[in-house]
Amino acid sequence: MNYNKKNVKDVDVKGKRVLLRCDFNVPQDKQTGEITSDKRIVASLPTINYLLDNGARVIACSHLGKPKGEVKPELSLERVAKRLSELLGKPVAFAHDVAGEESKKLAKALKDGEIMLIENVRFDAGETKNDPELAKRLASLGEIFVSDAFGTVHRAHSSTVGVADYLPAYAGLLVEKELSIMGGALENPKRPFVSILGGAKVSDKIGVIENLIDKADTLIIGGGMAYTFMKAMGYEIGKSLLEEDKVELAKQLMQKAKDKGVELLLPVDTAVGSHFAADCEKKIVDSRQIPAEWMGMDIGDKTIALFADAIKGAGTVVWNGPMGVFEFPAFANGTKAMAQALAESGAVTIVGGGDSAAAVEQLGYADKITHISTGGGASLEFLEGKELPGVACLQDK
Ligand code: 3PG
Repeated sequence: MNYNKKNVKDVDVKGKRVLLRCDFNVPQDKQTGEITSDKRIVASLPTINYLLDNGARVIACSHLGKPKGEVKPELSLERVAKRLSELLGKPVAFAHDVAGEESKKLAKALKDGEIMLIENVRFDAGETKNDPELAKRLASLGEIFVSDAFGTVHRAHSSTVGVADYLPAYAGLLVEKELSIMGGALENPKRPFVSILGGAKVSDKIGVIENLIDKADTLIIGGGMAYTFMKAMGYEIGKSLLEEDKVELAKQLMQKAKDKGVELLLPVDTAVGSHFAADCEKKIVDSRQIPAEWMGMDIGDKTIALFADAIKGAGTVVWNGPMGVFEFPAFANGTKAMAQALAESGAVTIVGGGDSAAAVEQLGYADKITHISTGGGASLEFLEGKELPGVACLQDK
């Protein structure tokens, strides 16, 4: 996959109408609709400020949630326009339609250095089908297309891919940063390259494990998916999460790692619970012998030391997925310890979206990590080495 794409700095944007795809898919309070984290809006500011400072006329667009082609007032981007305006310290005009009459009128009225946002592109049923008619309508609002929605580059939709059939397409600064840091780690990592993978299911991470076996020096496996690997080793895993149909695959992956000389680390001890609840009884046991009625819910202290030691000596660390049921405080130690180990290591550290990113942020280590990806699914597909349609459609350098 070619990550070397032209970006906003490779084109003269002065006086140009720029259709800018952002990922403003922000979390909201279920009751009030208030934005509970503006991280993704903040992440789009470098590109927006660059464009506005250089005299572009910006028509921003994004999706929010999954309205499935229907207008759902609770998923309107109007709140995002307000927050964006506060962050920029300037007005953000809001069009209540998706490239309809109001969008066209506001886009026409924009002056150099001004910005507007149009309504949630997924209110139009064509968006997720990559409908060319919608792509054409969106493209007609601008003269060039800039993609800064890294969180959505794995989706081939009208506003992420389709528009590039009608407009010259460039990467925004966020997409450029994500591609160069994560791409750099995969293509030319500072060694040793250590990758920590966690999360509940092996099936979600097969592609990532396969891709990383070819690139990493050490592969650390924790979280719920580790139990399927332990089963494959012949361990007793009690009532721990098991994907029976993936045991064979786990065996093959372990063999592949061995053949390639990749060190594969699994938990040596496990924090088990009496049942799946925050206040269950807890004890730490040898990973080879989880008692029949107990379930593994976190890595144990010896494992924390083992994993932290591998991270300490690393040149590059990529982490995706929690080490245990970290939403239960009694089983959050492993995930917290990995966040701390990354923060304290001198390595290039990359945290791929989702739960592990949330853990690093909640614990206050965010500024000690080289890069926290704004993509969940997108960063996972990136680590799988898949071609991302929202990147492939951008102009090569
Ligand atoms: C995300 O939150 O991962 C992106 O915004 C993509 O959202 P989607 O999974 O609804 O396409």
